[in-house]
Amino acid sequence: MDEKDSLIFEKGNKKAQINFIPKMDIECDELKDIIPSNLIRNEIQIPDIPEVEIVRHYVKLSKINYGVDSGIYPLGSCTMKYNPKINEHIARLAEFSQIHPLQEEREGALQLLHYISKILGEITGMDGFTLQPAAGAHGELVGLLIMKKFFETKGVVKNKIIVPDSAHGTNPASAKMAGFSIIELQSNKYGEVPLDHLEFAMQQGDVAGIMLTNPNTLGVFDRQIKDITKIVHKYGGLCYYDGANLNPMLGICRPRDMGFDIVHLNLHKTFSTPHGGGGPGSGPVGVTNELIPFLPIPCIISTENGIVCNHDSNHSIGRIKAFWGNFGIILRAYVYILSLGAEGLKSVGQIAVLNANYLRIQLQKKYNLPFNRMCQHEFVLSDKDMPNEINTEDIAKRILDYGYYAPTIYFPLIVNGALMVEPTETESKSSLDNFVEVMFKIYDEALNQPEKLKNAPLNTPVGRLDAVTAARNPVLKD
Ligand SMILES: Cc1ncc(COP(=O)(O)O)c(C=O)c1O
Repeated sequence: MDEKDSLIFEKGNKKAQINFIPKMDIECDELKDIIPSNLIRNEIQIPDIPEVEIVRHYVKLSKINYGVDSGIYPLGSCTMKYNPKINEHIARLAEFSQIHPLQEEREGALQLLHYISKILGEITGMDGFTLQPAAGAHGELVGLLIMKKFFETKGVVKNKIIVPDSAHGTNPASAKMAGFSIIELQSNKYGEVPLDHLEFAMQQGDVAGIMLTNPNTLGVFDRQIKDITKIVHKYGGLCYYDGANLNPMLGICRPRDMGFDIVHLNLHKTFSTPHGGGGPGSGPVGVTNELIPFLPIPCIISTENGIVCNHDSNHSIGRIKAFWGNFGIILRAYVYILSLGAEGLKSVGQIAVLNANYLRIQLQKKYNLPFNRMCQHEFVLSDKDMPNEINTEDIAKRILDYGYYAPTIYFPLIVNGALMVEPTETESKSSLDNFVEVMFKIYDEALNQPEKLKNAPLNTPVGRLDAVTAARNPVLKD
């Protein structure tokens, strides 16, 4: 094999030949028929490196990584809550981790998927769920394909969709992928959807409906939500709920009761399964009765003969993921829900709101808060009024120096220099107070030692990167 085609290793003697694997002592001609000759290797290159050095390599990498197990992770819009270890323990039990979706003894696994679908139905008010989507954005695509097929089946052409400017970027992207063109609605001064503009947009006739997250990415709850969904329905449209922000609503308010017809949930946010580098995700989609025929197949249904997989559906949008989705992740969410119970889930919502508002009131003492009202799970600060032309990036980089992860920056786009903070319910008061202390120190530095912020981060393994080049041409090994 050509040198440039061979594996490149960062550690150890790259040229070392391994001699502890014995050569095959049988002729296997069939192999030549199955594997193209250019892919058959006579020599295997594996780095020659002692075990202890490998262990040290990975331990070093793990130490420069930052996760929610290291400290507060106030990344707005991402709900980086603690992932309870009981979830991991149960997911690793052989009865779950060693099953194959095609094996005959899978009734228990199907039952579990059926139960969680019912529970998600109770939490959201929806009648049917698919667990297949692998992420929030994947769920959005599925929901919009369902919407599209629903109108096609009725013989109605509706190829536009309304998305407020406070939406997550995945909303317009998913709508475009599903073949819709987007009508963007500008939020009013409260960060809410202006009803007169909505009505005007719906009157265009070929509008399939609205995609909305409530509370939205400003962290504010749209108080006119029932009027919004009523207007969309009045013109024959459907209402899609982006449930990525469901955390503060848990046990308090249901998307169905707000008037929504389709909802996706991010199990990897609200229901405590790992995400960020630790995915994969899961974005189940729930619908009302009239849309159940359009759900992806196979559907798991309860019959007289037990729980079975139904592959027959004339109107289904088809299969969108192998088997029934990311089983291990769905299982973790199931454990989370059962271990908290209905009351526990409600207190998750309440404490998430309490924590966010506590931080908001504190940080507002030094930082600008453009939408100054009670928030839900998160709130958005801005770099307006920062001394010495200190901007959002400078603040975020300096937060890293103090050993914390930074909030989401420059999103949502409707706030200039946005810093979006979401503490989640799993942070204690002392953890929140420590974060406030750091943010106040940074403000004082902005006043008195601005160069510290301009050059930050100073204590991290890598300094300030050229963000555009780092994203386009990442060098991940040096
Ligand atoms: C409001 C909102 N909607 C949708 C998404 C997309 O979810 P995912 O990242 O799982 O695709 C996110 C993700 O951050 C979000 O915050």
